[in-house]
Amino acid sequence: AAVVEHTLNVGNLTVRRLCGEQVITAVNGSFPGPTIRIHEGDQLVVHVHNRSPYNLTIHWHGVFQLLSGWADGPAYITQCPIIPGNSYTYKFNVTGQEGTLWWHAHVSVLRATVHGALIIRPRRGRSYPFPKPYKEVPILLGEYWRSSIMDIENLAIANGGAPNISDAYTINGQPGDLYPCSSNKTFKLNVVQGKTYLLRIINAALNNQLFFKIARHRFTVVGIDATYTEPYDTDVIVVAPGQTTDILFTANQANGDYYMAANAYSSAPNVPFANGTTTGIIHYEGSTSSSAPLMPVLPAFDDTITAHKFFSNLTSLTTGPHWLPCPVKVDNQMFVTVGLGLADCGANATCSSTFPPYRFAASMNNVSFEFPSRLSLLEAFHSGVGGIYTEDFPDRPPIQFNYTDTRLSSNIPLMLTKKGTRVKKVKYNSTVEMVLQNTALLSIENHPMHLHGFDFYVLAQGFGNFNRTRDSPKYNLRNPQERNTIAVPVGGWAVIRFRANNPGVWFMHCHLDVHLPWGLATAFAVENGPTPSTTLPPPPTDLPRC
Ligand code: C2O
Repeated sequence: AAVVEHTLNVGNLTVRRLCGEQVITAVNGSFPGPTIRIHEGDQLVVHVHNRSPYNLTIHWHGVFQLLSGWADGPAYITQCPIIPGNSYTYKFNVTGQEGTLWWHAHVSVLRATVHGALIIRPRRGRSYPFPKPYKEVPILLGEYWRSSIMDIENLAIANGGAPNISDAYTINGQPGDLYPCSSNKTFKLNVVQGKTYLLRIINAALNNQLFFKIARHRFTVVGIDATYTEPYDTDVIVVAPGQTTDILFTANQANGDYYMAANAYSSAPNVPFANGTTTGIIHYEGSTSSSAPLMPVLPAFDDTITAHKFFSNLTSLTTGPHWLPCPVKVDNQMFVTVGLGLADCGANATCSSTFPPYRFAASMNNVSFEFPSRLSLLEAFHSGVGGIYTEDFPDRPPIQFNYTDTRLSSNIPLMLTKKGTRVKKVKYNSTVEMVLQNTALLSIENHPMHLHGFDFYVLAQGFGNFNRTRDSPKYNLRNPQERNTIAVPVGGWAVIRFRANNPGVWFMHCHLDVHLPWGLATAFAVENGPTPSTTLPPPPTDLPRC
């Protein structure tokens, strides 16, 4: 194992996109930021210098952070922000996982432009559980706004509304040929006839799930969220914000140019999203054709059937190097609604015109998560400081939601939310099962729920109301896919299970950023284990304080 050291300088960068120029917050002068490459078992040491005008933290999305919760990064959960002009060094070991992850800012909406790939190769001397690819290429899918996303966000929070939709989707920072003024910088991958490539696809978009295809080429999914999958052959994938998908494709078509392309999967027809398709070009070396690249036919934006087929057919590679069987015994059984609900209109918030006494809010089990501001949850938990959070995240029995008419007043009592910083406390090494039931008023949409600190097994997913008698016999306990972010089907449910083998405070939230300030989040507080090697060490001395 080696120590891999990096420095991230976060500051202003002037970029030209979509026929205009603007200043964004970016890392080491590039958008997306630098790719960090390590081997499983290495220690990563990253010095972060905040030269931007905003508060900053960096999160290592999907890294287990075993006994290193102080380096996880979500603002006010495991640390207070690095204020402008200050620095913090994130130091942690990466063990027991390999594949594609990423890093991103974890405060306000800064992650729109402050992000990059984090690639974990097999431990030195070991190989992939599939034939070695000729080349590996990170593909970061993102979104781009013509004006300052930070200003847009501040406006949105002040009005209780949603930030504007983006102006383009991007591949490795570029909108691509089909958007105005974009063609001379379109991302281009040169390939050699007959060779196989590993594309490490990351959805770093703020608010959209994305379909991805390559013209004329099929591919094989070999990994998701830094876990290996049973090889899965397909010609289309869907990736939710937060998720990653590793695919192998072979350059086995006639010499020429082919588009790779991504556009939105939007599960809720009445929620607006950015128009357009982002493209990159796969160019066969030696081909001299001057005709336009071939374009794949992407699914329709609301093609839930295609999305669900992809999401629900993936399974784990149980012969993979880090596979552990799914725990059979459940210690903490939870039923949790996730979705948009209604809260009382505050003094400054705009009331909804559809439900006049209320405004929109988001929640898990009707609690709209409120961030603390005086102390991070982890500091409060570690040192036993009271008054920062409560350990009473509510339990509830399964509900019967009326999905056929979500305006029905019978649903409204199921949807009223209250603010709170209510966490779920669990014992070290206990197992947790969550039934995530997707609910909402007016607009039910697929929510990508992300858990920090752990991968979970996805046992089953379906539409309508979860029914234990009917659905639990269908759980896949043999080779369930393992993820850190699950796209809970629109108007449906998903069952996940994990072992709480890592003491600390672990955030769980919707990775559609627009839902975070509305409260679609909670946290798990995992107690220390019985021995020093199962106890969270004290915080590093340079941990930013509030
Ligand atoms: Cu990728 Cu809490 O985030």
